[in-house]
Amino acid sequence: MTEVFETIASLRLRLETAGSIAFVPTMGALHDGHLALVARAADVAETVVVSIFVNPLQFGAGEDLDRYPRDLESDLAKLPDDVLVFAPPAGELYPYGASETLVTAGGIGARFEGASRPGHFDGMLTVVAKLLNIVRPDVVVFGQKDAQQVFLVRRMVRDLNVPVVVDVVETVRDADGLALSSRNRYLDADQHRAALALSRALAAAAASGESRAAALAAARSVLEAEPAVDVDYVELVDPATFLPVADDHRGPTTAIVAARVGTTRLIDNRQVTLAPAE
Ligand code: PAF
Repeated sequence: MTEVFETIASLRLRLETAGSIAFVPTMGALHDGHLALVARAADVAETVVVSIFVNPLQFGAGEDLDRYPRDLESDLAKLPDDVLVFAPPAGELYPYGASETLVTAGGIGARFEGASRPGHFDGMLTVVAKLLNIVRPDVVVFGQKDAQQVFLVRRMVRDLNVPVVVDVVETVRDADGLALSSRNRYLDADQHRAALALSRALAAAAASGESRAAALAAARSVLEAEPAVDVDYVELVDPATFLPVADDHRGPTTAIVAARVGTTRLIDNRQVTLAPAE
């Protein structure tokens, strides 16, 4: 039976005898991408803690906070029995209402996802900081699917000297290439088919990765051919800074894309190496 903790005090008591701890923060609606994070966590520490908490602080007005899927029983059934689950009610994490003190994500936090979802990354970093202070893990595991989130968490850990190792697991995809996301369940069959344009666009960028301009043109032509995909951004960023690379940049980049399919916002990314044609 999976042990579930709703209070900080009960989790802290249990963790006193836990040995090394690897932590996987989630908002629930678990899928195989989350389970890959849990498997990595089990490889690197004696005890695995998974948090399941839909964090109101990282949702903006008009976003999907109310309809975000919540099904604790079904999430628990997917997890190995020896995982410790922290599933607090909102009042346990925010007993005084919305936090007055926020971790701010800075300039990078205002770009890309942050430009479309103002305040999202401040809310995300704030809850991650709170959860790290509560769980006090040796390792925290994130998925590469949320590339900007990973960049900002690493930055926070470095900037604030948070004593934790950040481990990142490759994106898990459906057989057809769609990056797994809890929000994929909002897509009907036609929208799912249309959403495949995101991973195809990234593959096209990788295949024509001679220059930023060539890679972006290849990605855009795939996205423009799919009218059901409303593109927010597609860009090539420097993995070290998360800023767009210069036109003459050569070497590794992260190609990032975000789009709306129907009412569902989807993101994806892929490593793209820019190199002159042979
Ligand atoms: O990636 C997520 O599910 C969330 O942003 C996280 C890290 C659990 C914080 O709420």
